[in-house]
Amino acid sequence: MTNVTRRDALRAGGFSVAGIAAMLMGACSTQTSAGSAGASSSVSSASEASATSARKLQIDSKTGLLARSEFVGIDAEVKLADGSMKPAINFDNGATTPSLTSVVEEIQAQLPYYGSIGRGKGQKSAHSTEAFNAAHKVVLDFFGAPESTYTCAFSGTATDALNKVAGALCEEGAIVLTTRSEHHANDLPWRLHAAEVRYVEVDDKGRLRMEDFKTHLADKKVNVVSVQAASNVTGYVHDVHAIAKLAHEAGAFMVVDGAQISSHRAFSLKGTAEAEDIDFFVCSAHKMYAPFGGGCIIGKTDIMNAHVPVYRGGGMVDVVTDYDATWLKTPELWEAGTPNYFGQIGLAKACEALNTVGFEAIEAHEQTLLRRALDGLMDIKGITLYADSNKIDDRVGVLTFNVDKFDAADVAKKFADKWAIAVRQGEFCAHPLCHRLMDISDAQILAERDKPGFSAPAMVRISMGMYNTEKDVDTLIEAVKEIAG
Ligand SMILES: Cc1ncc(COP(=O)(O)O)c(C=O)c1O
Repeated sequence: MTNVTRRDALRAGGFSVAGIAAMLMGACSTQTSAGSAGASSSVSSASEASATSARKLQIDSKTGLLARSEFVGIDAEVKLADGSMKPAINFDNGATTPSLTSVVEEIQAQLPYYGSIGRGKGQKSAHSTEAFNAAHKVVLDFFGAPESTYTCAFSGTATDALNKVAGALCEEGAIVLTTRSEHHANDLPWRLHAAEVRYVEVDDKGRLRMEDFKTHLADKKVNVVSVQAASNVTGYVHDVHAIAKLAHEAGAFMVVDGAQISSHRAFSLKGTAEAEDIDFFVCSAHKMYAPFGGGCIIGKTDIMNAHVPVYRGGGMVDVVTDYDATWLKTPELWEAGTPNYFGQIGLAKACEALNTVGFEAIEAHEQTLLRRALDGLMDIKGITLYADSNKIDDRVGVLTFNVDKFDAADVAKKFADKWAIAVRQGEFCAHPLCHRLMDISDAQILAERDKPGFSAPAMVRISMGMYNTEKDVDTLIEAVKEIAG
């Protein structure tokens, strides 16, 4: 197997990442100088890489979640405004999550055996190509996407992925239906490529008005429906399979932005019936405890092969002549350029860890933390909470609020200065949704935005990760109490 090309290997089917090093050990006996980590200087020592894959993840016996030692740096101390040191409390997981220890270990173990993906004939190149191809299969399985129907193409983060999908699917005159709940990553690329973008509205709690989908799809002119699986502002989980059914009945493709679902709830591209199956799904690895720039586009293979992305370059073509090119099939067709190998094997490793824990435990933990945080905040005078604080079973661990007498930026600074609490403040790249939640009209914004001293509306966001604790939430509540006075 040392000289397999990417295409050969993909046709031959995937490997488990854990098995690759063993495969390499059997295949390669060449002595090399293996770089900084490679004290034993032999490609066959890649078998040590499988030791990290085989290392048993530490599970917290009380919560059933990954032990704190499985996250890099979550107890690291940071400097407060008074100069003292305190372990940071990270409530900004919706933006980015810390790395898993197992992800870093995997990357370190693979570094000495790193070679070019898909193009070289050397042993390291063959090894890296195998590992890269295997990672595709791990990610497909993680998102319940059978290889018989779907292909995983690696991308940069969700923004990169959505830009690629929008560019490929929007043929001339395309009409796209999305929602007012979206992150800009699932709105602006469609505005760029589609002739018309229609929007489903949200209600006064920020939930999608499901009946709007039917109205907008009634004329059967919409080509693409693109909706987030979960919101980064309200945490609402959307029934994208039900929306897919409506989209398909109207003859449209269904695209799902999975950035905020992937480390919070189990997600399968398959619905309960074929009509509910998702056509395209994207995610960002750095929101799944693998912050090395990875991400993916999972799509129905036949649709991917029928749409050549506008993002083009080496690796996606069979032959290029002076004025012509013949395209390879997906995933290569959708993976132009040198891939982010470590980002993607990191993503696969994170998927394995999330699978080991299981989403039942993650969801239960987040619901406990979210309920505790909302109850605590609801008890404090002078706080405005956005979204539905009573019915939360359709929310991942995200909440947004304001302390009425302070700007959101001041609150966030006070959190950091005194309690080492990290949050996000602003409108979280979802301005239309935040404006609606804060009851601010476009007319108000347009009238104000060019005036000197204009400060954009803002909220404070708490977004939870698997490693956050009830004690973290209690510290947050104490901090808000003190700030709100
Ligand atoms: C719902 C949603 N979609 C897309 C994105 C974009 O993700 P990235 O910045 O990783 O490309 C984000 C980021 O916060 C998000 O929350």
